[in-house]
Amino acid sequence: MLRHLSALLLLLPWPAIAADGAALYAQRCAVCHQTQGQGIAGHAPPLTGMEQWLATEEGRTYIARVVIHGLAGPITVRGQPYSDLMLTFRWRLQDDDLVAVLRYVAETLNEPAAGYKPISLETLSAARAASGRDVDSLALRARLPER
Ligand code: HEC
Repeated sequence: MLRHLSALLLLLPWPAIAADGAALYAQRCAVCHQTQGQGIAGHAPPLTGMEQWLATEEGRTYIARVVIHGLAGPITVRGQPYSDLMLTFRWRLQDDDLVAVLRYVAETLNEPAAGYKPISLETLSAARAASGRDVDSLALRARLPER
């Protein structure tokens, strides 16, 4: 029985499943950030309008740090204040899943601008390695353009 099961598992397209950013977004992010990334006013900020951040390494580093370490506001997005908690995905998603879900956010919910590159495994592992004062995401965010 077990042998049949593992034979069956070998037939499943694991890489496609693991890298399905749209499905991961629907399962792991949409409950708060909503299906089109529009967010919930006053609770979870929109994930649209991040083109300028996605176009620089500093902005991509910030986004990687938020998904790895979470975030505790206060922040302001389009004049709307948010002071809630973004949970950490450090132990919830592996880096290749994070690459896929962040590509979905960057390329489907946002429109890639000049300078855009997908958030890479290197950027994510640097975010994982950051600790203590290095993780001051609000300070890093304050250096980014307003959105
Ligand atoms: C349980 C709700 C929840 C889930 C699930 C969630 N987030 Fe968040 N997220 C938040 C909240 C709340 C904030 C803002 C935190 C604050 O007020 O400081 C946030 C902030 C962010 C930010 C920073 C936005 C900014 O303007 O600085 C990014 C990027 C982000 N989330 C991405 C994601 C991604 C990608 C996923 C799925 C992998 C996800 N979030 C899942 C609640 C959530």
